[in-house]
Amino acid sequence: MPGAEVEDDTVPHANPRARLPGMRRLFPVTDQTPATTPGDREWSLDELAEAYAYPVPAPGEPRPWLRANMVSTLDGAAQHDGRSQPISTATDMRIFGTLRGLADVVVVGAETVRQEGYRPARARAEFAARREAAGQAPAPAIAVVTASLDLDFSLPLFTSPPVPTLLLTGAAAAPDRVAAAEKAGATVVVAGDGPGVEPARAVQALAGLGHTRLLTEGGPRMLGQFVAAGVLDELCLTVSPMLTAGDAQRIAGGPSVAVPRRFALVSLLEEDGFLFSRYGRV
Ligand SMILES: NC(=O)c1ccc[n+]([C@@H]2O[C@H](COP(=O)([O-])OP(=O)(O)OC[C@H]3O[C@@H](n4cnc5c(N)ncnc54)[C@H](OP(=O)(O)O)[C@@H]3O)[C@@H](O)[C@H]2O)c1
Repeated sequence: MPGAEVEDDTVPHANPRARLPGMRRLFPVTDQTPATTPGDREWSLDELAEAYAYPVPAPGEPRPWLRANMVSTLDGAAQHDGRSQPISTATDMRIFGTLRGLADVVVVGAETVRQEGYRPARARAEFAARREAAGQAPAPAIAVVTASLDLDFSLPLFTSPPVPTLLLTGAAAAPDRVAAAEKAGATVVVAGDGPGVEPARAVQALAGLGHTRLLTEGGPRMLGQFVAAGVLDELCLTVSPMLTAGDAQRIAGGPSVAVPRRFALVSLLEEDGFLFSRYGRV
């Protein structure tokens, strides 16, 4: 099982303890970009947190910043056997945990919650001081995007989160499911006039609750809508050096956008053939 520093609370996995021997920054080129691989040096969580810090908002104008964190194989698969764990690695999970440690809220599609057996994000000692200084709760809330509210409200995600789990849904959501969710302790947030969530309204609704550092972990059907709506500010994409063939989903699905959205490379880390990129909207 992973060591204490590995994010192992939400996505059960059996990777060994994260090691970052020789992880180096390829872009932007700095003194952390040596020509040869340096020695066995593991980046601290503080270093990772600095590398993935949210932009500092302009004074008096805090605006939400939505980043997505996804992993893809070389041939574009976003999962294998219905899970992302087989295409991930301990280092990827360490960055996954760091991104959670920086976020106010984690937005996730209901199918990912069902398939990956999502649990609440936990309050981690490694991020406690940083979160307190940033005025954040000890752990990010999980916000599930769902029209059906067809979720098992007896699971720990609803019964024992450190901060209440949010359900983002539409105004036409079934009242009995809304009542069941609220009875279980979830906070239901309406972010659409019909049965579904409108991405821009979801971002605004979360900002209205004081959540401006937004992280989404997919899945592809939900992320595709956020891309199409033009509300995604940043993509943290792990490229996994694997090929899977088959018909797995890509990281973003649904109808394609009329004009491809352009992003710029912000940062690129490499370790053991895995690429950990940050792309920002231009
Ligand atoms: N590679 C990666 O980084 C990564 C990340 C996450 C997930 N995954 C993989 O992706 C797969 C699941 O992804 P997915 O694309 O099938 O599903 P998903 O996007 O996680 O969830 C789809 C569900 O979200 C809800 N939803 C989506 N858009 C909505 C909207 N506008 N309004 C209201 N509800 C909305 C609906 O829930 P209801 O049915 O409840 O209405 C819908 O069925 C899993 O295999 C998982 O392992 C991979």
